[in-house]
Amino acid sequence: MPDWSHELPPLPTNPARVLLFIAMESEATPIAQALRLHAGRGRLGSAQIELCNPGRDTATSCDRIGPVYAAWALTRAIATAKPDLVVNMGTAGGFAAQGLDIADLVVARDTMFHDARVALAGFDAVARAHTRLSPHDAELDALADTISARVGLVSSGSSLDATSDELAQFAHLRTLAKDMELAALAAVCATEQVPLIALKGVTDLVDRHEPAHEAFVRNFARTSGRLADAAPTLLRALVSR
Ligand code: ADE
Repeated sequence: MPDWSHELPPLPTNPARVLLFIAMESEATPIAQALRLHAGRGRLGSAQIELCNPGRDTATSCDRIGPVYAAWALTRAIATAKPDLVVNMGTAGGFAAQGLDIADLVVARDTMFHDARVALAGFDAVARAHTRLSPHDAELDALADTISARVGLVSSGSSLDATSDELAQFAHLRTLAKDMELAALAAVCATEQVPLIALKGVTDLVDRHEPAHEAFVRNFARTSGRLADAAPTLLRALVSR
């Protein structure tokens, strides 16, 4: 279905400022360690890397997951950090039907809100916000090769689980992974015209019987470790192009 509502600017060469958006603190910690960030900042080659995180909910102390806080935090961070590139890393549900397994990695080619249903021409496309990410096909393949990742659609919604209608849609679109932030980040980057790339690690298989939250909890540390192992390689490739 490549009729994007949005296309993002191309990947920059030698970006000076890179904003790394990670929704959960426990996802960010191993990645920050692997990148030797201190207080959420560090350097890689000639690039400055800065972590962007939506923080924790005051009532529950839980990470502010989901598209609303992602869009809010990224909009503020873009205004202050003025990045040349936004990189999103985090966990996601994967699809066994597309050959994905626990701890596998996916580089997003495109993203959309899979739970947006508006039966009005135009508004439907706005709500779905189908966005092609910045790397072109050859760049996606080359970047994915360096970290043994797959390339494809990463779809976003507000829920960890999936309805049967959504499962049918995921299969129809050959979706590789689903998360809760990427389409919101892409809509912000499209509006602000900032390039965006995303790497997801699979904690649960959405089209298998086990409830997503149980697999997510069991596999979270392993998959976060896999993301942290891949992060320096991917970022080095992005900052020295
Ligand atoms: N993050 C990790 N697993 C997920 C899932 N199944 N859906 C959305 N976000 C996720």
